[in-house]
Amino acid sequence: MGLSRRNFLHRVGATGGYGAAYTAMMALGLLPTAAASQVPVMAADLGAGKSVVILGGGIAGLVNAYELERAGFKVTLLEARDRLGGRNWTLRNGSKIEMVGEADQTVSFSEGVYMNAGPARLPSHHEGVLGYCRKLKVELEVEVNSSRSAYFWPQGSDAKPIRMRQGVNDTRGHIAELLAKAVSKGALDQELSLADKEKLLPFLKTYGDLDGQMAFKGTERSGFVQLPGADAQYGTHGAPLPLSELLSNEQLRSTLFEDQIYMQATMFQPVGGMDQIVAGFERAIRSPLIKNAEVLEIRDTRGGVAVAYRDRVSGARQVVSADFAIVTIPLNVLAKIDTNFAPDIKAAVASVPGDYSNKIGFEAPRFWEKEQIYGGISFVGGETNLVWYPSNGLHTERGMLLACYGSGPRAKAFAEKSLTDQIAVAKGVVAGLHPGHETELEKPVVVNWSKIPFNLGPWPAYGGRGGQEGRNEDPAYVLLNKEPKGRVYFSGAHLSQMPGWQEGAVLSAHRTIGMIANRVGQSVAVTPQKQTTAAAAA
Ligand code: FAD
Ligand code: ALA
Repeated sequence: MGLSRRNFLHRVGATGGYGAAYTAMMALGLLPTAAASQVPVMAADLGAGKSVVILGGGIAGLVNAYELERAGFKVTLLEARDRLGGRNWTLRNGSKIEMVGEADQTVSFSEGVYMNAGPARLPSHHEGVLGYCRKLKVELEVEVNSSRSAYFWPQGSDAKPIRMRQGVNDTRGHIAELLAKAVSKGALDQELSLADKEKLLPFLKTYGDLDGQMAFKGTERSGFVQLPGADAQYGTHGAPLPLSELLSNEQLRSTLFEDQIYMQATMFQPVGGMDQIVAGFERAIRSPLIKNAEVLEIRDTRGGVAVAYRDRVSGARQVVSADFAIVTIPLNVLAKIDTNFAPDIKAAVASVPGDYSNKIGFEAPRFWEKEQIYGGISFVGGETNLVWYPSNGLHTERGMLLACYGSGPRAKAFAEKSLTDQIAVAKGVVAGLHPGHETELEKPVVVNWSKIPFNLGPWPAYGGRGGQEGRNEDPAYVLLNKEPKGRVYFSGAHLSQMPGWQEGAVLSAHRTIGMIANRVGQSVAVTPQKQTTAAAAA
């Protein structure tokens, strides 16, 4: 009798541990890609008699708590704020925003209106976070990440805002015409076989909506100037914008935004606000998730860890001892905490500042929907970068208009302005895009992430460079991702290749769990979250 694949994997796991089982699964072709969201399969008593203290209750802390609790570890989670979720934070009527050096703001939105101050969208390839939404029964809806009715407009310029559909399709038409000319003149004969050339020309005609002479004279794809109607009212389109006008518009490239892999349809959002994911974890985890617990000291002792925290309500100092600590606190915040980490670890933690990012939301009557904009984003560049329209509550009375979301250097300079000035700039941009409607913007809410306590930035800036995703080989990143010598593990989105995405927090937590599971010395096989592949392994 041959070994079943499952038995084989358990045996590999028993002798070689998590890493070996993972490699074996890869070799057997059971994992879709190396980056799939692996949750170690752990026996329910794997952690029996072992304790873990988790520092920080953002998505990384919650995933660590959820999975380790299920594997029998004694889990305690310490969160400094009076709420869980960390950067996953939804603002509604009554929410309070504290920012270092600024007066507190209290949100006064109407019923049903909310603003996701941090994460606001989930790509369909973020299977880790979507997997938890499925498991925790967090209802999702489509987040309309792009609308062809939205505009691009270099803010403050004399140019008229251009609808996305016109930017996309007029540019494509001109390029198709140019390429068709070059091909017809034989300019690309070296590069193209005769057969390809013959196929390319008809394709370009369709691609650019060219006329019979392979000229671009405008297209219905760019919008109607006369709408089709009853009887003999035919739809007509206008002349295309000149290529030179399109090319000289510095926001033209924003027409490609929706093609970025992280931004492609279909995108999602939890119904009612991003913090519904946090609520899902809170419902599912039974271990103590202690809020208002500000970690002050972390000690890695020979036999375990000791973590001192201050109860921010009573002021009392408490100590939690455990076999292991998982630290998900953002590095620039962690750098200020008293620890006995090795000097190289301390230096790595201290070397990573936070980046900058600002969001400004207003409540308003849904005037944009009367301009046929339902969700999506208008790109305006400059300090405020964009205007983002809500995907929820379509055709209801009021909605939250995000009139600024900019990150990096532009956000650093913008956050130095007073909140009143920031609000005025954001309103001014809405005045340029939707003239007259700026007066309808009410109840402004400003979030400058660099000033938000316990984060002091939206995501890390390794080597001084911020970024939501991308290849990170910074020495501090590499060191902190290593299997620790002591009993303190570092975990969080900042230790993934997607520091600006919740998926990064999930994947980093899964990695941490895998390391701890291995360390407690039990057989651990891994299974991807994908149902189909898990079934194949059975
Ligand atoms: P955090 O959420 O930062 O958790 C760390 C926790 O540590 C916090 O709860 C904090 O309060 C706590 N803490 C800090 N100091 C202490 C202390 N001394 N004692 C105890 N606890 C402490 N992701 C998406 O998926 N989609 C998006 O659209 C998206 N957009 C974003 C937009 C913005 C503006 C921002 C800021 C982030 C966005 N992200 C997005 C990224 C996403 O929010 C993060 O990657 C993810 O939430 C990070 O989770 P984490 O658990 O690693 O960190
Ligand atoms: N990834 C984050 C976003 O989508 C930062 O805006």
